[in-house]
Amino acid sequence: MRLWLAIALASYALVAQPDPAIARGDKLFAQGCSVGYCHGAGGSAARSPRLRGRAFDRDYLIKVIRNGIPNTAMPAWGDRLTDADIGDLTGYIQSLATAPINVAAGPSTDGPAAPAIEKPIDIPAEFQNGRDLFFDLTRETRCSVCHRLNGFGTPAGPDITKSAAIKVTDGPQVLRFGRPRGVRTIVLKNGERFAGTTIERNASLTHVYDLNSNPPVLRHLQNTDIQSMQRQTNWRHRSVVRGYTVEDLQSIWNYVRFIAAKK
Ligand code: HEC
Repeated sequence: MRLWLAIALASYALVAQPDPAIARGDKLFAQGCSVGYCHGAGGSAARSPRLRGRAFDRDYLIKVIRNGIPNTAMPAWGDRLTDADIGDLTGYIQSLATAPINVAAGPSTDGPAAPAIEKPIDIPAEFQNGRDLFFDLTRETRCSVCHRLNGFGTPAGPDITKSAAIKVTDGPQVLRFGRPRGVRTIVLKNGERFAGTTIERNASLTHVYDLNSNPPVLRHLQNTDIQSMQRQTNWRHRSVVRGYTVEDLQSIWNYVRFIAAKK
């Protein structure tokens, strides 16, 4: 009798508790990889390759996660994740090999529509430095982690081509002081509080970019979990964007204005 009970409990535990390493991998993936239309919720693919339902070689995955893929949007994570993290992530991605390709539609995975695919504009040599700085993968607070431009980047912040009337010489000023309009302080009923920008809101869900995490994470909140969303006036670029010189910012701004003029 006892033995049966023990076996029943043990197999129950197997079903109820996912492998802790895979669970950690799942969490890391949600924080770093599913964001910003990269690999999508549960690896279901957004703008970057789908990982679900595909069998990958473990060594290949470890190499790609550690070193990235040159000349693509896939960054190297080797300096930000430990070997243990990369191992858990790899385990999680491998566990998706047999997962159904589409993540079941449900409140936690239902995202807003992915942005329309734009045809990227060719960049003349004189604006390439600005473009490289905007998308510079070696900078954690590069503009493209929050702004989408010319078909790439994450739309956590506004479409900045609309601010293109700002003079080139004002560019750095804008970043230093920001002109907060769209940022909200979001307070959840569980006590969590963060700065975010709302992407879409419907009867049951609010899709927001959580600006407290870097890079910002797209979150799908149940409206019933939200306590309040108030306009925040003290959010500033100053506290998140670091390491660009005034010349860098002017160069970036030249590039932004070039794209805006082409639209
Ligand atoms: C961590 C996220 C983040 C990063 C990184 C970031 N921005 Fe922003 N940016 C925002 C948000 C959010 C807003 C909107 C603020 C608001 O409306 O309250 C914004 C607003 C702007 C505006 C609009 C100003 C206006 O009033 O029209 C410009 C221009 C801009 N960003 C340029 C840049 C450039 C250039 C970079 C890179 C050097 C950059 N941003 C990096 C999040 C970011």
